[in-house]
Amino acid sequence: MSDNLKQQAAERAAEDVISGMRLGIGTGSTAEFFVHALAKRVADGLDVIGVPTSERTAELAASLGIKLTTLEELPELDLTVDGADELDANLALIKGGGGALLREKIVAAASGKMIVIADGTKNVDTLGQFPLPIEVVPFGQEATRRAILALLREMGLPQNLQLRMAGEHPFVTDGGHHIFDAHLLKIEDPETLAQALVKIPGVVEHGLFLNLASKAYVAGEDGVKTITP
Ligand code: 5RP
Repeated sequence: MSDNLKQQAAERAAEDVISGMRLGIGTGSTAEFFVHALAKRVADGLDVIGVPTSERTAELAASLGIKLTTLEELPELDLTVDGADELDANLALIKGGGGALLREKIVAAASGKMIVIADGTKNVDTLGQFPLPIEVVPFGQEATRRAILALLREMGLPQNLQLRMAGEHPFVTDGGHHIFDAHLLKIEDPETLAQALVKIPGVVEHGLFLNLASKAYVAGEDGVKTITP
């Protein structure tokens, strides 16, 4: 059921794409539905160029005949379409469940607009039930972990950080980094947390996407809702 809803949201976003657009293309199962919907439109003559946010998305999009380039070649984009792990009514997001948060954030920030696509289960009143991904440099990651824990303690947040694993080894992002997932339950002040996290040496990026999304298509039993901040 949720797959069907993800597909509905993705297809709605694909309708917003027009020829000539420079597109950021997100990562995850919902974004994959978008890639398929976009590929159908490309086969019908839509002329766009995309910058993928992960190796996984690049492979899928290329296999479906979508023209791709890099952000080095095309540093300004018109629109990024991407999924989210959580979104609130102001379109503050948690992203990075799929581990692509760093490239996703760079691409979204280089885009004039960002459309979020999601099924209704991703809609929350307060962010934080979904663990917040924090991408760190492997060098000195124990020191970085302790600095993050100290920040969480200072902010009165639960000090529960899990190193993301892929089998027996730490999960490695496309950028060669590791991820700590922070189980925070409720993030009452995402702005302060976001600003403080990036000041910690060793933290590369985090999954709080604030003031980046311009619109969301959220699919539920009663159809696809449009949310704007
Ligand atoms: C990947 C992401 C994804 O957009 C997020 O995890 C949602 O994934 P899905 O569409 O599979 O639920 O941020 O880094």
